[in-house]
Amino acid sequence: MAHNKALNAEFAAFAAGLDTAAVKMIASGEAIMKYPGTVLLAQMGLIPEPAPPSSSSPDPSPAAALVQKTQFEPFSLLDNACGPGLIAGVLQEELPKDVLAKSRVLCADVNGNLVDILKQRASIEGWVGVETAVLDAQNPGLPENSFDYSTVNFAMHIIPDPDAVLTATKSLLKPNGVIGITTMHSTTKGWTDDLLAALSSLSSSSSSSAPPILSFTPEPPLPAKIPMTVNNRPEWAEADGVRDQLEAKHGFEDVRVRLLPHKSACLSGADAVERFGMMVRMVTGTYWSDSTRSRVEAELKEKGEEGGLLGYVERFLDQRHGGQAWELEWTMVVATGRKPGP
Ligand SMILES: C[S@@+](CC[C@H](N)C(=O)[O-])C[C@H]1O[C@@H](n2cnc3c(N)ncnc32)[C@H](O)[C@@H]1O
Repeated sequence: MAHNKALNAEFAAFAAGLDTAAVKMIASGEAIMKYPGTVLLAQMGLIPEPAPPSSSSPDPSPAAALVQKTQFEPFSLLDNACGPGLIAGVLQEELPKDVLAKSRVLCADVNGNLVDILKQRASIEGWVGVETAVLDAQNPGLPENSFDYSTVNFAMHIIPDPDAVLTATKSLLKPNGVIGITTMHSTTKGWTDDLLAALSSLSSSSSSSAPPILSFTPEPPLPAKIPMTVNNRPEWAEADGVRDQLEAKHGFEDVRVRLLPHKSACLSGADAVERFGMMVRMVTGTYWSDSTRSRVEAELKEKGEEGGLLGYVERFLDQRHGGQAWELEWTMVVATGRKPGP
């Protein structure tokens, strides 16, 4: 679908290698996804429960870890849709090196350039026990009953066939093996409020005397709310939906689902555009035709708007937030389950 196509085009645009763009991409992603990913690993029983970052309020519904560990033991984990390695990075930070050395963490993503970035990061940071593979989570081709744990951190809302991921994961987990999944809840505002406000301001007057910046209204109109799933599977943005998928549809047991509030900071319009520029392109690429986007850029250029649409969004956000830093608010779904035992 177009939504997914536009997002995949953004992921595909990352070059292989740990260059400056990759380092920024890792930092931007981790500001949003690292705390929930850490909570996920704790709920799976792999690491201790983390303290919330200073920007986030305490979790109102902490769930007991699925497995309470008194000491760490070697384990095998498949991190599906690993991106540049957030889950593996948390495990490296949280677990003793001797445990990691006897463990196996297989980081797999369908995007070979992201896997390449992860490899370089692992080598520079001296990660232990980490392997990489370019794999499609829907059909990874890994042996049955071969992993103790499997994670999918923020990807079930993107992958076209999440059922195929669950079927494959249930097969590759050992009996009693644990699956861990995070997604963004449907009520998450994140960057979407700012972006919708910026884009709708293009064709609306800021005051009775100031005409809209564009002479036309881009068509089709943007939706009132940008969905948190891009694969047309809205159940993955709901706690009950995720529970239902894991429990009723795919037969995982001990399913625990919690909603985790989280905040991350934007320092300025420029910072927001650096972090979420890909989302500006994703949203306009999804809802507007190529000719509409070209026309918007051409008119902004005519009006002397430096930096085109991204420059306009940057200045709009500085104005919207009074030149001050602001916080983006997220609600994450954190879910774990266990493959039935023998
Ligand atoms: C939002 S990112 C999350 C990355 C990582 N899990 C993290 O926490 O930073 C989504 C990831 O899903 C990956 N992805 C999309 N479709 C996939 C598929 N069919 N199989 C494996 N990975 C996929 C993308 O390449 C991207 O790395």
